[in-house]
Amino acid sequence: MTMRFSTAAVIGSGIMGHGIALVCARGGVPVTLVDISKDALRAAEQKFRASMMQLVASGMAPADSPERVLAAVRYSSDMEEGVKDADIVFEAVPEKLALKESVYGQLDAFCKPETVFASNTSGIPINTLAALTKRPENFAGTHFFMPAHLIPLVEVIQGDKTATGVIDALMSFLTKLGKSPVHVRVDIPGFIANRLQHALAREAMSLVEKGVASAEDVDMVVKTSLAVRLLFTGPIEQRDFNGLDTHLSIAEYLYPDLENSTVPLLILTEKVRAGNCGIKSGKGFFDWTQEDLAGVAARKNSQLIQVLTLLKNA
Ligand SMILES: NC(=O)c1ccc[n+]([C@@H]2O[C@H](COP(=O)([O-])OP(=O)(O)OC[C@H]3O[C@@H](n4cnc5c(N)ncnc54)[C@H](O)[C@@H]3O)[C@@H](O)[C@H]2O)c1
Repeated sequence: MTMRFSTAAVIGSGIMGHGIALVCARGGVPVTLVDISKDALRAAEQKFRASMMQLVASGMAPADSPERVLAAVRYSSDMEEGVKDADIVFEAVPEKLALKESVYGQLDAFCKPETVFASNTSGIPINTLAALTKRPENFAGTHFFMPAHLIPLVEVIQGDKTATGVIDALMSFLTKLGKSPVHVRVDIPGFIANRLQHALAREAMSLVEKGVASAEDVDMVVKTSLAVRLLFTGPIEQRDFNGLDTHLSIAEYLYPDLENSTVPLLILTEKVRAGNCGIKSGKGFFDWTQEDLAGVAARKNSQLIQVLTLLKNA
């Protein structure tokens, strides 16, 4: 029998959880957002409103949708009450194994036996998390990307014991919610997107560390060439256009020279040790101290919406 997810719960209403809940609500699936912090739940409700208003203003959602979408979300700081009716539970609590273990203990106790658990973990192996539950066959990774209500990709990660029917059900559910799910068949560290992202970031930081170019210029190279092309052709299809013989010739002399450090580069670790962790601390590779950070985030989301509209019509 095909699995159906008619009601959802999302555990953790922070950066990722509130976006995942919004995806469910926009897709017409009643969802309960569960958080130990009532303040976090209140903040999530405000963020829903702001996100829906931005989607309406950009033409990506009908004018009457915010009230309908907001009505599909319930808020709870009581785990049992929040999850007992859910067919699917998305877990988005902080990336700490002990915390996730305690959350899965509660979920096993309070959820229906057939409820599927989907973790948004960035990197804890799905097999490790599945083993914390009494239902490894009903457990998978669903890795959303920030901001979860806008970025189409969700990596659906199959653990060693995940039932094929659960993967099929997740792929079809996420597609119906308007997402672009990709089936990650092996529970590999970093899944797919983070492996690609870190390979690019390691080389980019290495170029800055070696003094080849400034951080601004390395970013400019990506924004004005690779990023534009990669919007329409992935890195593998793009190489077909380039010519695989040409790619091979370049790979033969270039690979030995590429950054292949197996530990994080000094340029990164020194910044983090100095407390310069990026936007959230005011400084990273760039200085954000003079910026209106809420304004920067709204502008980035608005740019993403423009690109997504373009892609939809391409
Ligand atoms: N932030 C990102 O860009 C990003 C991207 C992809 C995946 N992830 C992953 O998503 C997960 C969540 O990350 P985040 O950035 O949204 O975290 P976050 O800190 O923004 O939010 C986590 C929320 O969980 C709540 N919480 C903590 N303990 C809880 C409990 N016992 N029960 C219920 N709620 C609880 C917190 O109050 C908080 O509101 C992590 O596994 C992270 O690795 C994050």
